[in-house]
Amino acid sequence: MEKAFALAKSFWQTLPERRAYHGTTGEETTRLFSRAWTEAGLGAEVLNDFGTIADHSRPPGGRFFGYVLGSNEQVAALAEFLASVLHQNVTAWRSGPAAVAIERTVVEWLAEAVGCAEFSGSLCGGGSAANLMGLAMAREAKAPANEDGVRGDCVVYASDQVHMSIDKAVAMLGIGRRNLRIVPSDDNFRMQADALAAAIAADRAAGKRPFAIVASAGTVSTGAIDPLLAIAAIAKANDLWLHIDGAYGALAALARPDLFEGLVLADSLSLDAHKWLYQPLDCGCLLFRDASAARTAFSHSGDYVKVTNTDPAEAFAFFDESIELSRRFRALKLWMSLQYHGRGAFRDAIALDLQHARLLEELVRSEPELELMAAGPLSAVCFRHRGVDNEALLKRVIERGRVYISNATIRGAFALRACFVNNRTREEDVRAIVAEVLATARRA
Ligand SMILES: Cc1ncc(COP(=O)(O)O)c(C=O)c1O
Repeated sequence: MEKAFALAKSFWQTLPERRAYHGTTGEETTRLFSRAWTEAGLGAEVLNDFGTIADHSRPPGGRFFGYVLGSNEQVAALAEFLASVLHQNVTAWRSGPAAVAIERTVVEWLAEAVGCAEFSGSLCGGGSAANLMGLAMAREAKAPANEDGVRGDCVVYASDQVHMSIDKAVAMLGIGRRNLRIVPSDDNFRMQADALAAAIAADRAAGKRPFAIVASAGTVSTGAIDPLLAIAAIAKANDLWLHIDGAYGALAALARPDLFEGLVLADSLSLDAHKWLYQPLDCGCLLFRDASAARTAFSHSGDYVKVTNTDPAEAFAFFDESIELSRRFRALKLWMSLQYHGRGAFRDAIALDLQHARLLEELVRSEPELELMAAGPLSAVCFRHRGVDNEALLKRVIERGRVYISNATIRGAFALRACFVNNRTREEDVRAIVAEVLATARRA
C-alpha cells in the first residue's frame, strides 16, 4: 500500500516535468500492454507497471488545454481510493446509508452553487449520461413512451452548436436523429431564439409534436451560453421541457453567476464536476426541478429491489431516479475535496481559468500572425495561424509536447482551441501556447 501511495506522490511531483503529449505509438502500447493473464499471481510486482503506464499516458499537467477535461484535484483522487475501500453500493439508503446521505448533500451543494437550490438529482458518469437522463425525463413527461414505445412525430430542438451527446441521446431514446431540429446560432454562437420559436410553430403546423428544447450553458467548441431567459419563455409558452446542457459551463456560475441568468428555469440541467470542478473522472450530475418526473421516467418495480423502509430518508433510492442500479460512491471525492479546499478556492480557481482565457485572447489579438476566431464568455479560445495549414500545425504543436491544445470547427473552418479548466495552469503556461504555435509555424 505504501508503495502505491509513493507512486502516486512521485507521479504528482513529476507532473511539471512531464511532456504534455506522451509521444507513444499504437504499436508500442500494444507491445507493452497486450499480455496474457498469468496463471500464477504476480503479487506486488504489478505495481512495477505503473511507471510504464504513466509514461505512456497523457498527463493531467498545467499545460493541458484540450477538449473540456478538468485537471484532477489531488484530495479528490485520494477520496476515490477511500471510496473503493468502503465499497458502498449507492443505490438505496439501506445499501449505503452514509454514502446516500452524502450524495444527496453534495448534489444540494452543486445545485446551490449554480443557483438552482430547489433542484435535486444524482451523480452519474458524465455530461453524456446526464444529457441522456435529462432527455429521457423530458420524453416521459411530455411524450410518454415507457409503456407503448416512441411515437415518430416527437421533436427536440437544439442549436447547431449542441454537443454530440444530444444527437446520441436522441438516437438511443428512439426519438430519431431526424427529429432533432437544429436551430441556427448567431454571430456569438448562441441559439437564435426567434428561429427556435419559428421552428416550433412550423412543426406544430405540420402536425408534429414538439416536446423538448435543449439549451447549452457553455457550448463545447466556443463556450457560448444560449439566451436562457428567452428560450425558457418559449418553452413555457409551448409547454415544452427545457433541458440545459451545462456540462462544460454551468459550474462557472460559482464565479460568474451573472452569465447564467435563466439557468433556474430549466426542468433538467446537466453538470460535469470532472470538468470545471477539477474532479477525477467520472463525476457528472443531473439536476431536476421535479423528482417525481425522474421517478416517472426511471422507477421500476422489480421485487428484488423492493424498499420496505417507511422513514422517507431510509426509503430513498437513487435507482428510482436514475438509470443505474448498482452505483459507485462518486460523492465521496466531492465531499472531501470541496470541503478540504472550501468554496472560495473553487470560485477563485474558476475565476483564474476565465482570466487565463482572456489573457490568451489578448495575446492572440496582439499577434499579427494569429487570428482570433471565437472567445468568451467562458474559457474556450479558438484561433488560427494566418500563414500555414492549421491542421498540420496542430499535429506538430502536440508532438513537440510542450503544450496540449485541441481543435474546433468554427463556421466550417479549422481552428486551434485551448480550453481552461485546469487548476495547475499558471500565466507562463498560457503564454507558452502562443509561443509554441508561433515557433512551430516558423519551423514549417
Ligand atoms: C457541452 C458538453 N456537453 C456534454 C459533454 C459530454 O460530457 P462527458 O464527456 O462527461 O460525457 C461535453 C464534453 O465535453 C460538453 O462539453
